[in-house]
Amino acid sequence: MSVIATYPCLKGRTALVTGAGGGIGDAICKSLVAQGVTVFASDRSKPQVEGCNLLELDVTCQSQWAHAIERISTEAGKLNVLVNNAGIYAPASLDAETAEGFSRIMDVNQFGTFWGMKASLPVLSDGASIINVSSIGGMVGDEGSIGYTGAKWSVRGMTRSAARELASRRIRVNTVCPGIIDTPMFYENNPDQAKELLARVPLGVLGQSEDIANAILFLASDQSRYITGSDILVDGGYMS
Ligand SMILES: NC(=O)c1ccc[n+]([C@@H]2O[C@H](COP(=O)([O-])OP(=O)(O)OC[C@H]3O[C@@H](n4cnc5c(N)ncnc54)[C@H](O)[C@@H]3O)[C@@H](O)[C@H]2O)c1
Repeated sequence: MSVIATYPCLKGRTALVTGAGGGIGDAICKSLVAQGVTVFASDRSKPQVEGCNLLELDVTCQSQWAHAIERISTEAGKLNVLVNNAGIYAPASLDAETAEGFSRIMDVNQFGTFWGMKASLPVLSDGASIINVSSIGGMVGDEGSIGYTGAKWSVRGMTRSAARELASRRIRVNTVCPGIIDTPMFYENNPDQAKELLARVPLGVLGQSEDIANAILFLASDQSRYITGSDILVDGGYMS
């Protein structure tokens, strides 16, 4: 079981987390709540995360983003931390992927991250931290997930551009790139693929959602104040 870090500077801040009904999103919300952060936890349907304000937010839907931001503005007045975590995997090869499948992956993973950053701009405080969840699939190519890798590379590109554009407001923008993490998403790989992926991890085990939450807490905190436009890989050495 991973230990959750403590960052007293986060107490009293406000965060929005997307995809909070999933394995990693749930851990991010709980770890933020444990720091005394007011957390707006969102997913396609209201997630069940104790201690959070719950929101229905499909990240592909502009009107739902507008509604979410309005609610945060009214109830909290400001947003200090935005975590664009929602994502879908749906692996398919170049040969097998369809136009619909590709568009859907781009919609959720790429557009959802773009629009999340854009929609949040009016309510983000100066000095806020945006954390976009990419993947090891955003760092290398992969046989069998053409859409996912394309979208996750794009998340890293948009992160760098946004980091430059928002630096004058001291808003930092970074990615966390998980390796293979023990959540429902990992089990979308067939058992042979899953075994093969795990065999490539030098530390020899699957990561836990709390390992990702710890990296996100660090990027949300003042301890990372000189880090922007960067990536933190949390992958047990997969990319080494
Ligand atoms: N688990 C892994 O091995 C792994 C590896 C690398 C990156 N990631 C990334 O981590 C993030 C979290 O994944 P996870 O492992 O917790 O997966 P998960 O499947 O457990 O959770 C993903 C969550 O995103 C939500 N979601 C999907 N489409 C959405 C939409 N349109 N609007 C709002 N929410 C939506 C789902 O409802 C779900 O709750 C994703 O961005 C994923 O790509 C995961």
